[in-house]
Amino acid sequence: MMAAFATYPSLAGKTVFVTGGASGIGAEIVRAFAAQNAHVGFVDLDSNASTALVSELGSDKVAFEICDLRDIAALKAAFKALQAKLGTATVLVNSAARDDRHNWQDVTPEYFDERMATNLRHQFFAIQALAQGMIDSGGGSIINMGSNSWWEAGGGFPAYATAKAAVHGLTRTMARDLGPHRIRVNTVVPGWIMTERQKTLWTSPEALERHRERQCLPDLIEPVYVARMVVFLASDDAAMCTANNYMVEAGSI
Ligand SMILES: NC(=O)c1ccc[n+]([C@@H]2O[C@H](COP(=O)([O-])OP(=O)(O)OC[C@H]3O[C@@H](n4cnc5c(N)ncnc54)[C@H](O)[C@@H]3O)[C@@H](O)[C@H]2O)c1
Repeated sequence: MMAAFATYPSLAGKTVFVTGGASGIGAEIVRAFAAQNAHVGFVDLDSNASTALVSELGSDKVAFEICDLRDIAALKAAFKALQAKLGTATVLVNSAARDDRHNWQDVTPEYFDERMATNLRHQFFAIQALAQGMIDSGGGSIINMGSNSWWEAGGGFPAYATAKAAVHGLTRTMARDLGPHRIRVNTVVPGWIMTERQKTLWTSPEALERHRERQCLPDLIEPVYVARMVVFLASDDAAMCTANNYMVEAGSI
């Protein structure tokens, strides 16, 4: 699998931070950057999955800090600890989220705020925490994970979908503010990606078949394809790409 990756010389030796890197798409992104010989630090609240990923990849390549990203002070402290180990990050991938289902009638103001804290707020504060280091380094690349779900008018998770739609606005406004410092900011928009969580919680043969019919391509999308887009956007090969959305959804409508 790894041998099939393109190699980007500009990523070797770079310090890359990934949120939600312990499992799912985030873990595949950590693997992909490690394969590029980048120094990868990730934050997550799942310590078992984090430890397992570091055992797989080797502690010389990858480091992690446990933190709940809903707590912004904890996020900042975790980044500081990773920076002490790995140096200044010039690539940030905001991948952490939770697509819990909820009925629109049951959403309370407290739950709505919690969904924003889980799915949106930390993306801004992660950018705020790392941007100065990127400015001092002469540039950087920030990739925010969006979702095709709201664009497809998917239902059953209104607060999640609202947060994910807002990621596009966050990307575009921060691309404007950080562009003069040669920091690029983009959104990667996954379609339905076959992570363990999706396979365990939300897939059924009927649902997969319906989804496949909506895609132009017949194959289900593995997390590695999202990671490949992220790695490209982080590299100097994407030097003129900013403020945009990059879909990895097999042409799903
Ligand atoms: N899988 C899909 O089909 C799909 C589709 C569209 C968008 N996305 C987006 O891709 C990104 C990755 O999703 P995934 O499918 O890999 O999810 P996942 O649930 O498999 O992985 C998410 C990771 O984030 C971590 N995390 C969640 N809440 C956290 C918190 N409060 N603090 C710290 N860590 C936390 C989890 O522990 C987990 O390791 C998300 O932004 C998601 O919205 C996924």
